[in-house]
Amino acid sequence: MPETPTTPKHIAIIMDGNGRWAKERGLPRREGHRAGAESVRECVEACKQLGIGYLTLYAFSSENWNRPAAEITALMALLERFLDQKADEMMKQDVRLQAIGHIERLPEKTRKKLRTAIERTANNKSLTLVLALSYGSREEITEAARSLVKDASEGRLTAADVTKELFASRLYTHDIPDPDLMIRTSGEMRVSNFLLWQISYAELVIFKKFWPDFGQSDLFEAVEEYSRRHRRFGGL
Ligand code: FPP
Repeated sequence: MPETPTTPKHIAIIMDGNGRWAKERGLPRREGHRAGAESVRECVEACKQLGIGYLTLYAFSSENWNRPAAEITALMALLERFLDQKADEMMKQDVRLQAIGHIERLPEKTRKKLRTAIERTANNKSLTLVLALSYGSREEITEAARSLVKDASEGRLTAADVTKELFASRLYTHDIPDPDLMIRTSGEMRVSNFLLWQISYAELVIFKKFWPDFGQSDLFEAVEEYSRRHRRFGGL
């Protein structure tokens, strides 16, 4: 039976509840997202302190494109500001930035800032911060299947060559280990099309509080909960 490591290598977070947080305060939804960006900073710091290697954040799902145009614009502007303002801090803290998702769908200006921050932080080693942007797991899995079928139809593959490992190598996360711990805020018990392949053995920890109220101590609590659980990987 594999030993349960006390600290996860990779934490993935579904940051939910920004809108409800804002509504409770009579504020526009974009204020909830703005406050949520502060929780992102806290979590990056907490992961650094704990020596966690990877933190993946569900910042914008493929379904989020169905939101009102004004909210999408506000989210992109927030992301751009985050990239502008946090690049120096990421360099200081040795944080490497990566992105997964259908990045080509993002506005050109956002993509450019993202590319710049990814390139600038590429050699940092302590923590890899992965932003899931325009991300949907079914789309990711479909694209992987499509690339395998293409290789097969052009004679580079046979059905027998298709293994779990080969399939995983065609996902956006091909160079990122699977998450050991997935956190969701705002009390919903759903995985919402996030990393469906990758969370096969992840522990789930749900918080009732909304994302803007989530801070360092909550992340520490989730890691403690993780270390108490016994991971069996389907074995005895
Ligand atoms: C979910 O809350 C949150 C989002 C769709 C966006 C997450 C974005 C941030 C936390 C801020 C920006 C991130 C970075 C990396 C700078 P919701 O709007 O679905 O809340 P609701 O369910 O209460 O409506």
